[in-house]
Amino acid sequence: MKIKLVRATAQHLDDCVAAVRDSNISKYFDSDASARDFFQRAMEADQLYVGIGEHNETLGLVKYVPQGGFHRSPYIHVFAVKRAHRHQGVGTALLRTFERQILTDSRRVFLLVAAFNTTAQEFYRKNGYQEVGRIPDYYLDGVTEIILMKILPEAGS
Ligand SMILES: CC(C)(COP(=O)(O)OP(=O)(O)OC[C@H]1O[C@@H](n2cnc3c(N)ncnc32)[C@H](O)[C@@H]1OP(=O)(O)O)[C@@H](O)C(=O)NCCC(=O)NCCS
Repeated sequence: MKIKLVRATAQHLDDCVAAVRDSNISKYFDSDASARDFFQRAMEADQLYVGIGEHNETLGLVKYVPQGGFHRSPYIHVFAVKRAHRHQGVGTALLRTFERQILTDSRRVFLLVAAFNTTAQEFYRKNGYQEVGRIPDYYLDGVTEIILMKILPEAGS
């Protein structure tokens, strides 16, 4: 799977919005407009990366906060592959490329996944993430968020 990871620019924002709209994390965004605003601000803060395919198409996105994990470790805030590209190894390639290219100084990385999102839980488990805790009713009432952590191969902070 060939994938190029680049910092998002304005031309990628529509694809980022589409990736979350057509997914089981769409309920975290009130509307396309609020999702676009969210990604625009992430782009301006240099916290948004996109995976680009061989034909220059946008495959998926990673939005992260460098020290969003307890003010110490990177935190993956939103991760999504566009619907048409799922189940083809894109997510695995995008996540691994992001870890190797961007998280070079980090020992650990954190993220939250909803208890209902069993697809993503299986995906992260296969990619070396393990559960380290749970937070009930965090973003959405009635939805428990599972805290996942991965210990990255290279030692760092
Ligand atoms: C989760 C997501 C990023 C996975 O991306 P992907 O490109 O489909 O993942 P891959 O093709 O690399 O799949 C890797 C593994 O994940 C698991 N997986 C992926 N889709 C799955 C599904 N629908 N059901 C069960 N397991 C699944 C499989 O174990 C798969 O391994 P396999 O190829 O040996 O079967 C993608 O489904 C997505 O964008 N979902 C919507 C957004 C989302 O939920 N993001 C996570 C928020 S925390």
